Amino acid sequence: MRDPEEALSQLVQAAMADELGPDYAHADPLIRASQFADFQANAAMSLAKSAGQQPRELASRLAARLGDSDVVASAEVSGPGFINLTLRDDWLADQATSQLADPRLGVRTADPAQTIVVDYSGPNVAKELHAGHLRATTVGDAVVRVLEHLGHKVIRAAHLGDWGTQFGMLIEHALDIGEQATYEQLVAGEFTAFYQAARQKFDGDQAFADRSRQRVVELQAGGEQALQLWRLLVDDSMAYLRQIYTRLDITLTDDADMDPESFYNPMLADVCAELEATGVAVISDGALCAFPPGFTGRDGRPLPLILRKSDGGYGYGSTDVAAIRYRLRDLAVDRIIYVVGSEQSLHLAMVFAVARQAGWLTDRQSAEHAVVGLMTGPGGQRLRTREGEQVKLVTLMDEAVERAERVITDRYQDPAQRRQIAEAVGIGALKYGELSVARDSSYALDFDRMLALTGNTGPYLQYAAARIRSIFARAGLDPAGARGPILLTVPAERTLALRLAGFGRAVGEVVAGAEPHKLAGYLFDTASAFTTFYEQCPVLSAEAGLRESRLALASLTLQVLVTGLGLLGIGVPDRM
Ligand code: ARG
Repeated sequence: MRDPEEALSQLVQAAMADELGPDYAHADPLIRASQFADFQANAAMSLAKSAGQQPRELASRLAARLGDSDVVASAEVSGPGFINLTLRDDWLADQATSQLADPRLGVRTADPAQTIVVDYSGPNVAKELHAGHLRATTVGDAVVRVLEHLGHKVIRAAHLGDWGTQFGMLIEHALDIGEQATYEQLVAGEFTAFYQAARQKFDGDQAFADRSRQRVVELQAGGEQALQLWRLLVDDSMAYLRQIYTRLDITLTDDADMDPESFYNPMLADVCAELEATGVAVISDGALCAFPPGFTGRDGRPLPLILRKSDGGYGYGSTDVAAIRYRLRDLAVDRIIYVVGSEQSLHLAMVFAVARQAGWLTDRQSAEHAVVGLMTGPGGQRLRTREGEQVKLVTLMDEAVERAERVITDRYQDPAQRRQIAEAVGIGALKYGELSVARDSSYALDFDRMLALTGNTGPYLQYAAARIRSIFARAGLDPAGARGPILLTVPAERTLALRLAGFGRAVGEVVAGAEPHKLAGYLFDTASAFTTFYEQCPVLSAEAGLRESRLALASLTLQVLVTGLGLLGIGVPDRM
């Protein structure tokens, strides 16, 4: 199938070349959505000046060359020089029929394919995932799925926080309470209690504090016993994380995906040596610091990115600098997307600047911070429990599922089936809520809105898909067997077909800015177009020919919705 915008683009370019000369064959025809036609081309206005013509005049000449093709039904000039373009019904119908026959549903693979690191989720050992992790996790995972679907090679990197001075006290506490108790507490996600108990001893018990400090030294020196105890904490935390990722259907499944901070430990000394040798880093107050140009504090003094503390220790920044060198230089990736909260904007901007100064980040590569915003409480304030603590992610998940179960409760007798559907609907609603807003916006948690069966919600989209399945079930047909051919006889069919034809483009639009909400918005528009179609067009009772056509449109819609939701990481229950 052909993407309508691309087909139009080529036609307008050919018209521009014929009218103005071969130089114009690659000028941007500025195809945009239009209120008055399927699309509009705005190039006449931008090109008129250099072509030495009046915009409206140029537009009508171009339009005259466009009116007669197997793609365009009409090209009409309006306003100062817009060309309103309407596709031919038979052409659009053919595209829909071939889109249905295409296993990729019109989504083309990227050329060239790139190698891309997506750094997302950002969990930490011995800390629970809280509500704030949801956006960085769902957005990153949707970006990963889309990139892979387009044929890019993706390296998932959770950048698991598994290193730092706090591990001394955590290890000593684990030793105090024993291996089994530690496992039970951590796998249950009782990190706060574990951490606070360790902290209390550290603050109140001199001997414990001393042991903890010695343990850190031993750990950093690679002492076998300390490492073993530390690994225990990491494994217990991983068991907890796996449960949550599995339940959320997050594709951070391989050990390598966790890409833990400790992985970079062996590189830290060398990174520091290199940056010092090249003059990117200098000793300042005993610490090794980079002062990337353009970063100054409030007092106007250059801001340091600390690479090695004055006591010789390394920190969060050191690890990020080592990680970016490894990714850009050793893995030679084309692009790194950091899906991380805005509070780390300055930190990441400095890391990128150092990488550029060091010559690791070349002009052929990019490092981007895909900022994610916060899910807030109803009034826009930080989401907290009544006790003032961060809300655990698992609490949100449980509540979403419980509420979903209440919504669907009267429709299912079988409790196991009800539970299963509620899980898909509740988790889907929660994820979709995060994915349907611009990733950097704040968004107030609102379960009622999130779980509503109308509007731009997960359940609405899942329901649209379930409804299509039930049409086929009633007819005793398999949606995969629908072939068409698709005919466009009334406007509602045409509008739906035009939407469906935009699928490949919508998937592609996620890539440039790492913005899954663009795909979410497209899927919502598509489901809405289907709703109108279904209200206006009888399917099973339609006459022969039209019935097959409408079943084919329904099947294509189903596949686009299921594939699109799948790319967002959202499952579709068979029934709803
Ligand atoms: N674990 C970090 C935190 O909790 C987030 C990691 C983000 N990624 C990175 N490369 N710094 O803040």
